[in-house]
Order: sequence, then C-alpha cells, then structure tokens
Amino acid sequence: MKKSTSTILKHMGQDLINKSANPAVVRASTVFFKSMQALIKQNEIVKKKKPFHYYDYGRYGSNTTIELQNIIKELEQAYHVFLTPTGFGAVALCFLGLGRPGDEFVVSDNVYQPTKDICNTYLKELGIKTKFYNPDDLNDLKQKISKKTKLIFVENPGSNTFEFQDLKKIISLAKRKKIFTVLDNTWGTPLYLQPLKIGFDVSISSATKYFSGHSDAMGGTMSVNQRVYKKVYLVNKLMGYRLAPDEAYLIIRGLRTLDIRLKAHHNNVIKVVKFLKKHKKIREILYPHKPTSKNYKMWKKYYSGSTGLLGILIKSNSKTSVVKFVNSLKLFGIGYSWGGFESLVVHQDIAKKRYFWKYQPNEHIVRMHIGLEDPADLINDLKQALKHIK
Ligand SMILES: Cc1ncc(COP(=O)(O)O)c(C=O)c1O
Repeated sequence: MKKSTSTILKHMGQDLINKSANPAVVRASTVFFKSMQALIKQNEIVKKKKPFHYYDYGRYGSNTTIELQNIIKELEQAYHVFLTPTGFGAVALCFLGLGRPGDEFVVSDNVYQPTKDICNTYLKELGIKTKFYNPDDLNDLKQKISKKTKLIFVENPGSNTFEFQDLKKIISLAKRKKIFTVLDNTWGTPLYLQPLKIGFDVSISSATKYFSGHSDAMGGTMSVNQRVYKKVYLVNKLMGYRLAPDEAYLIIRGLRTLDIRLKAHHNNVIKVVKFLKKHKKIREILYPHKPTSKNYKMWKKYYSGSTGLLGILIKSNSKTSVVKFVNSLKLFGIGYSWGGFESLVVHQDIAKKRYFWKYQPNEHIVRMHIGLEDPADLINDLKQALKHIK
C-alpha cells in the first residue's frame, strides 16, 4: 500500500519487539554474538559492503540509528544514508569521501560559510582546489568546470542571500562529464524537494535543523545513490563517524511532526512577511512569498513548499541602528542555527565573504527564522524593534 509522507513519518521507527510506537535507544559499544563462528560470519557480511542492517560494533550503528537511516532513506528515496554527528560533518564526509589530491571542486559562492572555509583551507592543503561560481550565472559555473572537476556542490537556497538555482540544468552539465553533484537541502527538506529523485548524487541535510526541530540535538545526513555509496563507504568507516543513539532518537522524535511543523512555520512566515513588506526601510524580502519576488519562479519549478528561514534586506546608512533593531527584539533569540520551534535572528555581515554578491554600503541582511509562536506576537515585537532603524 502506497503511503503519504505524513503517514510514513508517524509509522516508521516503531519497536515491534517492545510493542512501542518509538524505537528503543540502544546504547552499545560491544555487540554480542553467540559464538566466534557467528562473529566471523557477520564480519564477512559486513565486508561485502552491503548497506544497512549489519553492524558488528557500536561505532557502525545500533538499532536506533538504523531506524533513523531507514526513515531518511524512505524520505529521500536513497540507496544509503550516512549519519554524521553534525550537519557539517556530512558536508566534510562528502568532500573527503569523493575528493582526492589533484581533483577540483566547483562550489556555489553562497554556501554555508564553514563549507567555504573547509575548501579554502584544509582541502587546499590536501591538494584539492575549489573554484567558486556565481549562483546567479550558469555560464560562470560552466566555465569553471574542467577535466579535473570531481564534484559540483550547490546549496539551495543559498545561505543568507537565498538565491534559487536551476538545479536540473546544473545536473545535466555535470552528467555529461560524470561529475558528482551534491545538494545541501537543509532548507527545503526532502518533504519539499527530493534531490536524488531529480538526479543529484548526494543530498545533505543538517538534521540539527528541521528534522530534530526542537533545538536540543545535532546530527547530519548524507543520502546517496549506489555510485557514491561505493566511494564513500570506506572513508566513512575509517573516519570513525558515528551518530549517538540518543541524538538519533531525538531526531526520530522530531521527524514525527516535521510535516505539521513545516506548514506552521510557513503560515507564520506569510503573516510576518505581509507586515514586513510595508516597512519603508525594508528593500526586499528574501523569500519566495509571491510570484513577483526574486527567485519565485525557480523555487516554484522545484519545490512543493517553503519553510521558516528568510532574509530581509534593509536599506539604511546606519549599521548601528540595524544592529539596535536586532538587539531590541524580545521574542527572537539572537544566535546561530535555525529549524527549531523558536524564532531567531542574526545580522549577517556577508560583504567580505562573497566573491559575487554586489554589496551596497547601505544594505544590510538580517536573517530571521520564524518560529511557531503566535505570529501576532512576533509582529508586535517586530513593530516595536523596527522603530530603531534609521
Ligand atoms: C545550510 C546549512 N548546512 C549545513 C549546516 C551545518 O549543520 P550543523 O550545524 O548541524 O553542523 C548549517 C548550519 O547552520 C546550514 O545552515
């Protein structure tokens, strides 16, 4: 029987042995075997590199992490899902698993800053060169591809500036040259876009964000096809990556309500945006909220929904007053991360970090995560704080 995503999220991960709606948290280092023969037999199975279901030591998983892998595998329609201790761990695993000295990576200029940092520092020292491309210019991407290009890494929408790219065009450029394609899909989640289904080789999510949804757990998922699995399997094993079963449990618990939370985030965003767009100091809302907004067309082409993170582009000659606006918000926590139930805000200084962003000195980006509070309260809070912008 075909089931919808909402039903899958509620029904997967049950513990039939303990007759419970949720999986047991299996905390284990040693995995017991009946005999040496049984242990050796299991070792042989593990060596055959079959994904899932087999582990002979706690570092390779437990029943709890396997339940999480199975849920993500279903959502992403993946061959395999590598679990990592953080979302950034999944980014690093992807780079280290697929790249070798002498390779080149082509990476979008608007990726999460640590993704850029690892390219410009550690990977460079390992002999892997990164070329950053302009997310608004497919020709620029095309020109950056060379015979040495091993992978193209896209984050959609881009961190802080929220550009949406033409994903299928990127995939077709890469496929012709057998280049691996990777999408950081943390914003959209597999509920609104399934990257592997449209042709990406890898889909990355920070499970810290919407999957867990309660700002109390960290984790990452790297969902892959068979070709990538074969290349990354050993690297993952040798790096000693492991997601703790307690974190896996919390992420499964968060996933139960992912569908409902995402809809609620979106409904609140729409109300907040309706208020914000009337403000004279706000030049642009970086969110696909109406057909005339920048990037709406490209969002609509690939996504079946939108979530709770957005940027506002403020026009002001006084940075101090914009920072005062942020500091004056009472219901928005100031801090990194997003995807939890609560509203958050940060002033983002991106000017020096971007190669292609056309920065104007009187432009400021404030990133907001619209949480699940009553949107009327959020609007009242914004109303009092916006008064500080000069
Ligand atoms: C788009 C994106 N990808 C990856 C990460 C890294 O995730 P984590 O914080 O779980 O390491 C973040 C974190 O903010 C992010 O925003």
